Amino acid sequence: MEVYKSLLEGNKLWVQEKLGEDPDFFNKLSQGQSPQILWIGCSDSRVPANEITRTQPGEIFVHRNIANMVVHTDMNMLSVLDYAVNVLKVRHVIVCGHYGCGGVQAAMGSQQFGLIDNWLRNIKDVYRIYSNELDAIEDDQARFDRFVELNVMEQVFDLTKTSIIQNAWRDRNLPIVHGWVYSLKTGIINDLGVSFDRSSQLASIYQINAKKVELT
Ligand code: CO
Repeated sequence: MEVYKSLLEGNKLWVQEKLGEDPDFFNKLSQGQSPQILWIGCSDSRVPANEITRTQPGEIFVHRNIANMVVHTDMNMLSVLDYAVNVLKVRHVIVCGHYGCGGVQAAMGSQQFGLIDNWLRNIKDVYRIYSNELDAIEDDQARFDRFVELNVMEQVFDLTKTSIIQNAWRDRNLPIVHGWVYSLKTGIINDLGVSFDRSSQLASIYQINAKKVELT
């Protein structure tokens, strides 16, 4: 069978399964969504947000791109973030990277891949920030793993720098922003223990909660 046909077959079986568990499953979902989580993850096919967290449709609002990046000029990311925070009013934003991330690995090297090099450059900037720590790690695998973690932490910082997050903190003390890393080898998610829920946690240069200044 052509692989795409197996997807359609799979869909039919999934519908039967869901209806078997709850005949009202699709009726309820069609009424609307109120997810409490925004997930920013990698596009990697091995890291499906719902499956690895055992959550159901309707529970997580998802944005994925190569290497789970928060790039401030990315209108796609900003739109997802603004909608999730200001319309859906999610309580948590999770940046979830993964060990063995091909995007992060590519950013560690100097090989050209094409257009994507310009996207990977954002990850190289993270390496530059932490180059002292990373260069001191002799083991290649350990350095790669640490770079994945630092990249997630930096994307968490990048979220907190946005007016979208800081205005939400000022107005409703939410969302809490978290950094996680998933292991392809074990299936376990490692909570990096970085979480932010107020502007005072940021370096003062990034705090934008003060009253707007009239420009003259
Ligand atoms: Co990846």
